[in-house]
Amino acid sequence: MTLLKALHLGALICWCGSLLYLPALVAAARAAPAALERDGYRRCARQLFVVGLTPAALVAIMSGTGLFLAQGNTALWLVAKLGAVAGMAVCHVLCGALVLNSEQTTPRAWSAPAACHAVTAAAAGFIGLALWLVLAKPF
Ligand code: HEM
Repeated sequence: MTLLKALHLGALICWCGSLLYLPALVAAARAAPAALERDGYRRCARQLFVVGLTPAALVAIMSGTGLFLAQGNTALWLVAKLGAVAGMAVCHVLCGALVLNSEQTTPRAWSAPAACHAVTAAAAGFIGLALWLVLAKPF
């Protein structure tokens, strides 16, 4: 159980960190003046999504599900936390869409730096909510 929780927390740190950082990379790619610099940011964003963000999310969700099955906990805070996790998953998908769109020759307006910052803000909100629910267990 302790090892499973350690795996859960380790994967969460990687998922949350990448979720907050990736939109900033896409915004940097959009704002970079030189083509070479732009390509570097885009490659970095794709690598982070494929090698970091997605595997970390899968491990976090699988280990969380393992903890849930091992403990059989059905408290309301856990159900509410799953709602916050769903919000994080939506931000995850939006990050993928931002990465794909930033690779187009003419990226669409909705992947502008302001949209990237909005995704970061939403992700930060859901992460904070999930952490508060699991640590304070308010109900
Ligand atoms: C499908 C996704 C997830 C499931 C099913 C899940 C489930 C669980 C369960 C059952 C526990 C044990 C609770 C306890 O022992 O009191 C736990 C611990 C924890 N979870 Fe998750 N979790 C998920 C995702 C997340 C996310 C996204 C975050 C943070 C952003 C998070 C943060 C934590 C923390 C900090 C703990 C340790 C709490 C403690 O030891 O008091 N979890 N999780």
